[in-house]
Formats: sequence, structure tokens, C-alpha cells
Amino acid sequence: MKIISNPLELKEYLHVVKGPVGFVPTMGALHEGHISLIKKAREENDFVVVSIFLNPTQFLKGEDLDSYPKKDDADKKICEMSGIDVLFFPQVDDVYCRDEVTLNAPNVRGFVLEGNSRPSHFNGVLTVVMKLLNIVSPTRAYFGKKDAQQLNLISLMVKQLFMSVEIVPVDTIRDSDGLALSSRNAYLSKAERVEALKISSSLYRAGSLVSKNILETDEIKKEMRETLDGLEIFYVEILNRDFEQLLHVELGNTVILVEVKVGNTRLLDNIWL
Ligand code: PAF
Repeated sequence: MKIISNPLELKEYLHVVKGPVGFVPTMGALHEGHISLIKKAREENDFVVVSIFLNPTQFLKGEDLDSYPKKDDADKKICEMSGIDVLFFPQVDDVYCRDEVTLNAPNVRGFVLEGNSRPSHFNGVLTVVMKLLNIVSPTRAYFGKKDAQQLNLISLMVKQLFMSVEIVPVDTIRDSDGLALSSRNAYLSKAERVEALKISSSLYRAGSLVSKNILETDEIKKEMRETLDGLEIFYVEILNRDFEQLLHVELGNTVILVEVKVGNTRLLDNIWL
């Protein structure tokens, strides 16, 4: 595995690579969820690049940029053991300069749900993903379905800006108790971790209602909120795959999304029906 931190050096290195290139962008603190993205990239491409870059522009003032879990040595080992070809490991100055061209998330879809409580978050995500995709020029880039709104906005960016990369959504990986894997789970105390299980329980409850043919989204959201009782709820939403409101669940075209705060930790999860 080669480790490169300079974007232009990476571009030059990849220039001569033949065959499809798979790319997995991450912010580090790698877990089984990231490993499943890397595995899929390994299966589907001849060459695999992973980036580890804690992107400052997607954190708002007062958020957890400074305390975000950092596990550089363990992350490098995981990448090495996963058989990737190149680890892109830039510093902030390698990626950003003083007077920046930035991308704006779309006015509607970028400022609802997570974008409502974190207004400039998706501007930062789209800007850095655009930069990373331009540096790596992959055939395919892999993103987890857990960050469904991020995935939706990145797919939209690629389509609207006529970019030549396939965005591949990858299923959420859960702990055996149902909690979706996230680097931020490391913040949870034992008691908070138990509370956090209400998130997946609320989604399972939604799935079970749908399996009984209860499809009215208001009814499902009401029952989900009951399951989440005691947590600070940012949103419980039932949308179609274009992120538009639904009155009734449409099988094959529905995402049910939850974001809550457990203690001081913001956690999100969703299921695709
Ligand atoms: O999902 C993430 O880890 C980040 O938002 C991403 C896509 C790597 C951009 O910084």
C-alpha cells in the first residue's frame, strides 16, 4: 500500500493506472462500515484508493471537529489489511487554500433534515467530495446508505455537474444489537448506548407496520416517535428516493429517516423500503 498526501502527486501516480479505479472517501476512525465499502470497492475494481481526511468545512462552529475520534495508526493498518492500493492522507493545507471556490448545496434538498440543523454542512461535504473526486478521478465511488441525505446530494451533484463517476450506495452495517455503526458511537457512555438502541427499534417498528400493510406515513411516524420517547428528536421523516414527502409508503421507493441526540451525540439512521 502506498501512502500519498499531496493531491498532485496522487493525480500523477493514478494517471498511469489501467482498469477501473474504486474510491472510498472517509474521515478516518474506520470501522466495519468503512471496511464493507472497501471490500465492495475491492471486488468491483482493479485498483482501490481510500482517503482519510477530517474535512473541517463540513463542521459548524461548536461542533465536534476538535474531538472527532482520530485513529491514524489503526486506520493505516486496517487499510493495509484490506488490500487497498493507495491511501490518500492529506493535511488541511494540501486540500484547502485561503480564498476558496466552494460549492453550494441545493437550496431545498441541502437545507432540510440534517441540513436544517447544520445549515452549511452539506456545502462542506459537496466541496470536499468534488475536490476528492477530481483528484482521484475514480470509475466508482462508494458511500454508505446510513448517510442517506449525503448520498442523495452527492448523486445529485454528480448528475447535475455531468461528472463521470458512478456513485455506489452500500448497505448500513449494524452491531449485533441493531445500532448502526458510526465513528461517533465512540462518544456514547454505556447508558447512552442502551438509549441509542431506540433508534433502530423505531425503524424496525416502522418496518413491521409496513409489513402489516399500514402505509400511512403520519401513523408510522407517530409510532416511531413513541419508540424514541426520551431522546431529543431532530426529525423522523418518510420520503421517496428523491427526498420528497410521502403520504403513503411506496415499496421500492421509500426511505425512513431518523436523527436524534443521545446525550451530546447526534446520531442518524434510516431504512430503505
Ligand atoms: O461520510 C463521510 O465520512 C464524509 O462526509 C465524507 C464523504 C468522507 C466527506 O468528508
